[in-house]
Amino acid sequence: MYCREKSILAKKYHMLSLDDLREHFVTHLLTSINKGEPKNLYEPISYILTLGGKRLRPALTLMTCELFDSSYVKALNAALAVELFHNFSLIHDDIMDNAPLRRGKSTVHEKWDINTGILSGDAMLILAYQLFENYEPETFQNLAKLFSKTAIEVCEGQQYDIDFEDRNNVTIEEYLHMINYKTAVLVGAAMQMGAIVANASGKSQNAIYEFGRNLGMAFQLQDDFLDVFGDPKSFGKQVGGDIISNKKTYLYLIAKNESTPADSKELEHLYSIEPKNPTDKIEAVKRIFIKSGARDKTKTQIKQYTEKAIQLLNEMELNENGKDQLTVFANNLIARDV
Ligand code: IPE
Ligand code: IPE
Ligand code: MG
Ligand code: MG
Ligand code: MG
Repeated sequence: MYCREKSILAKKYHMLSLDDLREHFVTHLLTSINKGEPKNLYEPISYILTLGGKRLRPALTLMTCELFDSSYVKALNAALAVELFHNFSLIHDDIMDNAPLRRGKSTVHEKWDINTGILSGDAMLILAYQLFENYEPETFQNLAKLFSKTAIEVCEGQQYDIDFEDRNNVTIEEYLHMINYKTAVLVGAAMQMGAIVANASGKSQNAIYEFGRNLGMAFQLQDDFLDVFGDPKSFGKQVGGDIISNKKTYLYLIAKNESTPADSKELEHLYSIEPKNPTDKIEAVKRIFIKSGARDKTKTQIKQYTEKAIQLLNEMELNENGKDQLTVFANNLIARDV
């Protein structure tokens, strides 16, 4: 009895760090990669999965499982499913966004070709679902249900993102809805999946989902911010890519609303052209983003979503060590430059 209590206490106060969990995750990932034939199907999968990345979502899946008093080991396959899905979405996203760079290297469709990117991506989505077969029927069903709901939302978000490129009347509300679907719901789901594996109550599952979702909103706003103001040396993606593609980001929408009529008109014009050399366009847009205050307002909005997430976390009955780790993590996410 004494020993059991002691081990519960140890568990509560010495949770593994997110960095440790990330390392355990990467080990699991590396042992799970298929190196077989046909090479043109499996090499791109191995390529994207070993390019690195922050491993944010799988680390959160594992941490949430620990947070609800289960071993992260049980959640390794769910975490792998999340990372596979994320990387599948990146391969297809890079095709849709015509992106040359990912994590500092060539994108899959640049290194191979578009058809290879499509099929390798599809296979990754299926491999992700297959991982749920490692769970008992009830857990399997709960994981698959959440995953399917989330995956279809991501598709909807991605379609809105593309549709908005050709529209000049996108509202801030529409933008927020779009990023909620394309990005935030997967962060929420990654955490809820850890809670499902740990058999947490429905109430806890919803609460941790909402924490992740708000963090995901801040995360995408920060991604949009870095796409414009990031350092090309560390960002790993083409800086200015969203401007080249006329993406209707928060920066753009605020700048359009809050600029002088002349700047607003200029911005709209800049977002209607696709010059061969985009350097001047990018510089002109950047100037308007700064001058209009959109740059600062975006930072404020990022902070607000992060604070909302932390507030939701504080309302939960969780051990303090877990809360502290997630709070530090949330704050670091805003400070990141990758
Ligand atoms: C990129 O996600 C796609 C977005 C939702 C912004 P990450 O920034 O998590 O990409 P990696 O996995 O760390 O490279
Ligand atoms: C990505 O949004 C969302 C998904 C991949 C579902 P972005 O297009 O902004 O992501 P990055 O900037 O290419 O990583
Ligand atoms: Mg993209
Ligand atoms: Mg995109
Ligand atoms: Mg982006």
